Amino acid sequence: MNMPATLNTDRYAKCIDVSKRVRWEIEQDVIRGRTLDLGKKFLPDGLSKVHELAFLTPDQQRFLSQVQGRTYANIFGLVERFICAKVMEVSQDYALGDQVALEALVRFSDEELKHQALFRRMEALAGEQMPAGYRFAPQPDEVARAVLGKSSWAVLALTLCIELFTQVHYRESIHKDPALSELWKDVFLFHWKEESQHAILDELEFVRENAKLTPEERERAVDDLIELVLAVDGIVQMQSREDAAYFIRHCGQGMSPEQCRAVESTLLAAYRWQYILSGTQIKRFADVLFAMTTPAQTERIVNALGTLSEAA
Ligand SMILES: [Fe+2]
Ligand SMILES: [Fe+2]
Repeated sequence: MNMPATLNTDRYAKCIDVSKRVRWEIEQDVIRGRTLDLGKKFLPDGLSKVHELAFLTPDQQRFLSQVQGRTYANIFGLVERFICAKVMEVSQDYALGDQVALEALVRFSDEELKHQALFRRMEALAGEQMPAGYRFAPQPDEVARAVLGKSSWAVLALTLCIELFTQVHYRESIHKDPALSELWKDVFLFHWKEESQHAILDELEFVRENAKLTPEERERAVDDLIELVLAVDGIVQMQSREDAAYFIRHCGQGMSPEQCRAVESTLLAAYRWQYILSGTQIKRFADVLFAMTTPAQTERIVNALGTLSEAA
Protein backbone atom coordinates (compact mmCIF):
# COMPACT_ATOMS: atom_id res chain seq x y z
CA MET A 1 0.00 0.00 0.00
CA ASN A 2 1.26 3.43 -0.90
CA MET A 3 1.49 5.35 2.42
CA PRO A 4 2.11 9.11 2.29
CA ALA A 5 5.65 10.25 2.95
CA THR A 6 6.32 11.27 6.53
CA LEU A 7 9.65 13.02 5.96
CA ASN A 8 8.16 16.32 7.08
CA THR A 9 6.36 15.16 10.22
CA ASP A 10 8.47 17.52 12.37
CA ARG A 11 7.39 20.52 10.32
CA TYR A 12 3.72 19.58 10.63
CA ALA A 13 4.25 19.06 14.39
CA LYS A 14 5.77 22.53 14.73
CA CYS A 15 2.70 24.04 13.02
CA ILE A 16 0.44 22.22 15.51
CA ASP A 17 2.46 23.60 18.45
CA VAL A 18 2.30 27.19 17.22
CA SER A 19 -1.35 26.83 16.24
CA LYS A 20 -2.19 25.78 19.82
CA ARG A 21 -0.11 28.59 21.29
CA VAL A 22 -1.66 31.44 19.23
CA ARG A 23 -5.26 30.11 19.17
CA TRP A 24 -7.89 32.84 19.72
CA GLU A 25 -11.67 33.22 19.92
CA ILE A 26 -13.67 35.74 17.88
CA GLU A 27 -15.64 37.54 20.58
CA GLN A 28 -13.46 37.31 23.67
CA ASP A 29 -10.07 37.94 22.02
CA VAL A 30 -10.75 39.92 18.83
CA ILE A 31 -14.03 41.88 19.04
CA ARG A 32 -14.09 42.47 22.84
CA GLY A 33 -17.39 44.40 22.65
CA ARG A 34 -15.93 46.98 20.24
CA THR A 35 -17.26 48.48 17.00
CA LEU A 36 -15.41 49.86 13.98
CA ASP A 37 -14.16 53.44 14.43
CA LEU A 38 -15.41 55.34 11.36
CA GLY A 39 -13.25 58.31 12.37
CA LYS A 40 -10.22 56.26 11.27
CA LYS A 41 -9.07 54.53 8.09
CA PHE A 42 -9.34 50.75 7.71
CA LEU A 43 -6.86 49.88 4.96
CA PRO A 44 -3.48 51.69 4.92
CA ASP A 45 -2.65 54.02 2.00
CA GLY A 46 0.11 51.75 0.66
CA LEU A 47 -2.54 49.12 -0.10
CA SER A 48 -5.56 51.34 -0.81
CA LYS A 49 -3.75 53.95 -2.96
CA VAL A 50 -6.35 56.55 -1.82
CA HIS A 51 -3.56 59.14 -1.44
CA GLU A 52 -3.15 59.02 -5.24
CA LEU A 53 -6.60 60.65 -5.57
CA ALA A 54 -5.42 64.11 -4.53
CA PHE A 55 -8.77 65.74 -5.40
CA LEU A 56 -10.51 63.83 -2.59
CA THR A 57 -10.84 65.50 0.82
CA PRO A 58 -9.26 63.72 3.82
CA ASP A 59 -12.78 62.59 4.87
CA GLN A 60 -13.44 61.15 1.42
CA GLN A 61 -10.05 59.37 1.37
CA ARG A 62 -10.87 57.88 4.77
CA PHE A 63 -14.27 56.67 3.57
CA LEU A 64 -12.70 55.12 0.46
CA SER A 65 -10.18 53.27 2.64
CA GLN A 66 -13.11 51.98 4.73
CA VAL A 67 -14.95 50.76 1.63
CA GLN A 68 -11.78 48.94 0.57
CA GLY A 69 -11.21 47.58 4.08
CA ARG A 70 -14.73 46.17 4.12
CA THR A 71 -14.10 44.48 0.76
CA TYR A 72 -10.70 43.25 2.01
CA ALA A 73 -12.39 41.30 4.83
CA ASN A 74 -15.03 39.97 2.41
CA ILE A 75 -12.39 38.83 -0.10
CA PHE A 76 -10.66 36.79 2.60
CA GLY A 77 -13.99 35.29 3.60
CA LEU A 78 -14.47 34.38 -0.08
CA VAL A 79 -11.09 32.75 -0.75
CA GLU A 80 -11.15 30.86 2.53
CA ARG A 81 -14.21 28.94 1.28
CA PHE A 82 -12.15 27.18 -1.40
CA ILE A 83 -8.96 27.08 0.69
CA CYS A 84 -10.76 25.22 3.48
CA ALA A 85 -12.35 22.78 1.02
CA LYS A 86 -9.01 22.06 -0.69
CA VAL A 87 -7.17 21.56 2.62
CA MET A 88 -9.86 19.13 3.80
CA GLU A 89 -9.46 17.27 0.51
CA VAL A 90 -5.65 16.95 0.66
CA SER A 91 -5.82 15.97 4.35
CA GLN A 92 -7.61 12.74 3.27
CA ASP A 93 -4.26 11.39 2.04
CA TYR A 94 -3.17 11.23 5.68
CA ALA A 95 -6.39 9.86 7.17
CA LEU A 96 -4.87 6.36 7.48
CA GLY A 97 -1.25 7.51 7.56
CA ASP A 98 0.72 10.34 9.17
CA GLN A 99 -1.62 11.42 12.00
CA VAL A 100 0.55 14.46 12.82
CA ALA A 101 0.18 15.85 9.30
CA LEU A 102 -3.55 15.05 9.51
CA GLU A 103 -3.92 17.00 12.75
CA ALA A 104 -2.03 20.01 11.35
CA LEU A 105 -4.36 20.13 8.33
CA VAL A 106 -7.51 19.59 10.42
CA ARG A 107 -6.48 22.55 12.59
CA PHE A 108 -5.78 24.56 9.42
CA SER A 109 -9.33 23.93 8.10
CA ASP A 110 -10.85 24.59 11.50
CA GLU A 111 -9.05 27.95 11.63
CA GLU A 112 -10.27 28.88 8.14
CA LEU A 113 -13.86 28.13 9.21
CA LYS A 114 -13.37 30.43 12.20
CA HIS A 115 -11.81 33.13 9.99
CA GLN A 116 -14.83 33.03 7.66
CA ALA A 117 -17.09 33.51 10.71
CA LEU A 118 -14.89 36.44 11.81
CA PHE A 119 -15.16 38.08 8.38
CA ARG A 120 -18.96 37.59 8.37
CA ARG A 121 -19.00 39.30 11.78
CA MET A 122 -16.96 42.19 10.36
CA GLU A 123 -19.33 42.56 7.40
CA ALA A 124 -22.28 42.72 9.83
CA LEU A 125 -20.52 45.40 11.92
CA ALA A 126 -19.63 47.41 8.80
CA GLY A 127 -23.22 47.06 7.57
CA GLU A 128 -24.57 48.50 10.82
CA GLN A 129 -22.25 51.50 10.75
CA MET A 130 -21.60 52.41 7.12
CA PRO A 131 -24.15 53.97 4.72
CA ALA A 132 -26.59 51.56 3.05
CA GLY A 133 -26.00 50.30 -0.49
CA TYR A 134 -22.69 48.41 -0.24
CA ARG A 135 -22.71 45.11 -2.15
CA PHE A 136 -20.11 42.35 -2.19
CA ALA A 137 -20.80 40.79 -5.58
CA PRO A 138 -18.86 37.49 -5.84
CA GLN A 139 -20.56 34.41 -4.36
CA PRO A 140 -18.17 32.25 -2.24
CA ASP A 141 -19.67 28.85 -3.14
CA GLU A 142 -19.87 29.69 -6.84
CA VAL A 143 -16.26 30.90 -6.91
CA ALA A 144 -15.10 27.88 -4.88
CA ARG A 145 -16.86 25.47 -7.26
CA ALA A 146 -15.04 27.01 -10.24
CA VAL A 147 -11.66 27.11 -8.46
CA LEU A 148 -11.90 23.54 -7.18
CA GLY A 149 -12.55 22.36 -10.75
CA LYS A 150 -8.91 23.20 -11.55
CA SER A 151 -5.94 20.95 -10.78
CA SER A 152 -4.84 20.72 -7.14
CA TRP A 153 -1.38 21.97 -8.14
CA ALA A 154 -2.86 25.24 -9.43
CA VAL A 155 -5.20 25.67 -6.44
CA LEU A 156 -2.35 25.06 -3.98
CA ALA A 157 -0.12 27.54 -5.85
CA LEU A 158 -2.84 30.21 -5.65
CA THR A 159 -3.45 29.38 -1.98
CA LEU A 160 0.25 29.70 -1.12
CA CYS A 161 0.33 33.08 -2.86
CA ILE A 162 -2.73 34.34 -0.94
CA GLU A 163 -1.51 33.12 2.44
CA LEU A 164 1.91 34.68 1.89
CA PHE A 165 0.54 38.07 0.88
CA THR A 166 -1.83 38.09 3.86
CA GLN A 167 1.26 38.04 6.07
CA VAL A 168 3.25 40.57 4.05
CA HIS A 169 0.31 43.03 4.06
CA TYR A 170 0.01 42.74 7.83
CA ARG A 171 3.72 42.92 8.69
CA GLU A 172 4.80 45.52 6.14
CA SER A 173 1.76 47.76 6.03
CA ILE A 174 -1.19 47.26 8.42
CA HIS A 175 0.95 46.70 11.52
CA LYS A 176 3.01 49.84 10.87
CA ASP A 177 0.09 52.27 10.49
CA PRO A 178 -0.93 53.85 13.84
CA ALA A 179 -3.91 55.69 12.30
CA LEU A 180 -6.16 52.69 11.51
CA SER A 181 -9.37 51.63 13.28
CA GLU A 182 -8.14 49.56 16.21
CA LEU A 183 -10.71 46.81 15.76
CA TRP A 184 -10.09 46.53 12.03
CA LYS A 185 -6.35 46.36 12.70
CA ASP A 186 -6.76 43.72 15.43
CA VAL A 187 -8.80 41.50 13.11
CA PHE A 188 -5.80 41.29 10.80
CA LEU A 189 -3.35 40.92 13.69
CA PHE A 190 -5.19 37.83 14.95
CA HIS A 191 -5.72 36.56 11.42
CA TRP A 192 -1.98 36.90 10.66
CA LYS A 193 -1.04 34.91 13.77
CA GLU A 194 -2.79 31.81 12.43
CA GLU A 195 -1.98 32.41 8.76
CA SER A 196 1.76 32.09 9.39
CA GLN A 197 1.33 28.33 9.91
CA HIS A 198 -0.97 28.01 6.91
CA ALA A 199 1.65 29.25 4.48
CA ILE A 200 4.13 26.63 5.75
CA LEU A 201 1.54 23.88 5.32
CA ASP A 202 0.56 25.17 1.85
CA GLU A 203 4.15 24.91 0.72
CA LEU A 204 4.54 21.37 2.08
CA GLU A 205 1.34 20.25 0.35
CA PHE A 206 2.16 22.09 -2.89
CA VAL A 207 5.58 20.38 -3.10
CA ARG A 208 3.98 17.01 -2.32
CA GLU A 209 1.33 17.55 -5.04
CA ASN A 210 4.00 18.63 -7.54
CA ALA A 211 5.89 15.36 -7.04
CA LYS A 212 2.81 13.39 -8.14
CA LEU A 213 2.52 15.08 -11.56
CA THR A 214 3.86 13.95 -14.92
CA PRO A 215 5.35 16.71 -17.13
CA GLU A 216 2.15 16.67 -19.23
CA GLU A 217 -0.02 17.08 -16.16
CA ARG A 218 2.16 19.93 -14.90
CA GLU A 219 1.87 21.64 -18.29
CA ARG A 220 -1.92 21.57 -17.96
CA ALA A 221 -1.67 22.68 -14.31
CA VAL A 222 0.28 25.77 -15.41
CA ASP A 223 -2.59 26.60 -17.78
CA ASP A 224 -4.97 26.17 -14.84
CA LEU A 225 -2.91 28.50 -12.66
CA ILE A 226 -2.95 31.21 -15.34
CA GLU A 227 -6.73 30.74 -15.69
CA LEU A 228 -7.13 31.05 -11.92
CA VAL A 229 -5.14 34.28 -11.81
CA LEU A 230 -7.32 35.67 -14.62
CA ALA A 231 -10.41 34.54 -12.69
CA VAL A 232 -9.17 36.42 -9.62
CA ASP A 233 -8.69 39.43 -11.87
CA GLY A 234 -12.30 39.07 -13.04
CA ILE A 235 -13.47 39.13 -9.42
CA VAL A 236 -11.30 42.15 -8.70
CA GLN A 237 -12.70 43.99 -11.74
CA MET A 238 -16.28 43.22 -10.69
CA GLN A 239 -15.84 44.33 -7.07
CA SER A 240 -13.80 47.44 -7.90
CA ARG A 241 -16.72 48.59 -10.11
CA GLU A 242 -19.19 47.89 -7.28
CA ASP A 243 -17.07 49.75 -4.73
CA ALA A 244 -16.44 52.73 -7.03
CA ALA A 245 -20.20 53.04 -7.67
CA TYR A 246 -20.97 52.84 -3.92
CA PHE A 247 -18.32 55.46 -3.14
CA ILE A 248 -19.50 57.81 -5.92
CA ARG A 249 -23.15 57.49 -4.78
CA HIS A 250 -22.08 58.79 -1.37
CA CYS A 251 -19.26 61.22 -2.23
CA GLY A 252 -19.64 61.91 -5.93
CA GLN A 253 -21.62 65.16 -5.70
CA GLY A 254 -19.47 67.80 -7.37
CA MET A 255 -17.05 65.27 -8.83
CA SER A 256 -16.39 65.56 -12.58
CA PRO A 257 -16.75 62.54 -14.93
CA GLU A 258 -12.93 62.37 -15.14
CA GLN A 259 -12.66 62.30 -11.37
CA CYS A 260 -15.25 59.49 -11.20
CA ARG A 261 -13.22 57.55 -13.77
CA ALA A 262 -10.05 58.16 -11.72
CA VAL A 263 -11.78 56.67 -8.65
CA GLU A 264 -12.74 53.59 -10.71
CA SER A 265 -9.29 53.07 -12.22
CA THR A 266 -7.46 53.68 -8.92
CA LEU A 267 -9.68 51.13 -7.18
CA LEU A 268 -9.00 48.55 -9.90
CA ALA A 269 -5.24 49.19 -9.69
CA ALA A 270 -5.36 48.99 -5.87
CA TYR A 271 -7.27 45.71 -5.94
CA ARG A 272 -4.95 44.18 -8.55
CA TRP A 273 -2.05 45.16 -6.33
CA GLN A 274 -3.70 43.84 -3.15
CA TYR A 275 -4.98 40.50 -4.44
CA ILE A 276 -2.60 39.52 -7.26
CA LEU A 277 0.58 41.49 -7.84
CA SER A 278 1.74 42.06 -4.24
CA GLY A 279 1.62 38.26 -3.80
CA THR A 280 3.33 37.23 -7.00
CA GLN A 281 6.23 39.55 -6.19
CA ILE A 282 7.03 37.74 -2.92
CA LYS A 283 10.40 36.06 -3.32
CA ARG A 284 9.44 32.91 -1.43
CA PHE A 285 6.45 32.38 -3.69
CA ALA A 286 8.54 32.80 -6.84
CA ASP A 287 11.28 30.53 -5.44
CA VAL A 288 8.86 27.69 -4.68
CA LEU A 289 6.80 28.01 -7.87
CA PHE A 290 9.59 28.51 -10.39
CA ALA A 291 11.64 25.64 -8.94
CA MET A 292 8.83 23.42 -10.28
CA THR A 293 8.29 24.92 -13.73
CA THR A 294 10.32 24.72 -16.95
CA PRO A 295 11.75 28.00 -18.35
CA ALA A 296 8.95 28.05 -20.96
CA GLN A 297 6.27 27.58 -18.26
CA THR A 298 7.88 30.24 -16.08
CA GLU A 299 7.79 32.61 -19.04
CA ARG A 300 4.11 31.92 -19.67
CA ILE A 301 3.23 32.68 -16.03
CA VAL A 302 5.40 35.82 -15.95
CA ASN A 303 3.86 37.08 -19.21
CA ALA A 304 0.31 36.56 -17.90
CA LEU A 305 1.17 38.53 -14.76
CA GLY A 306 2.94 41.18 -16.84
CA THR A 307 -0.27 41.85 -18.76
CA LEU A 308 -2.12 42.54 -15.49
CA SER A 309 0.74 44.60 -14.15
CA GLU A 310 0.79 46.82 -17.28
CA ALA A 311 -2.99 47.19 -17.13
CA ALA A 312 -2.71 48.25 -13.48
FE1 LIG B 1 -7.55 32.74 7.17
FE1 LIG C 1 -5.24 30.64 5.90
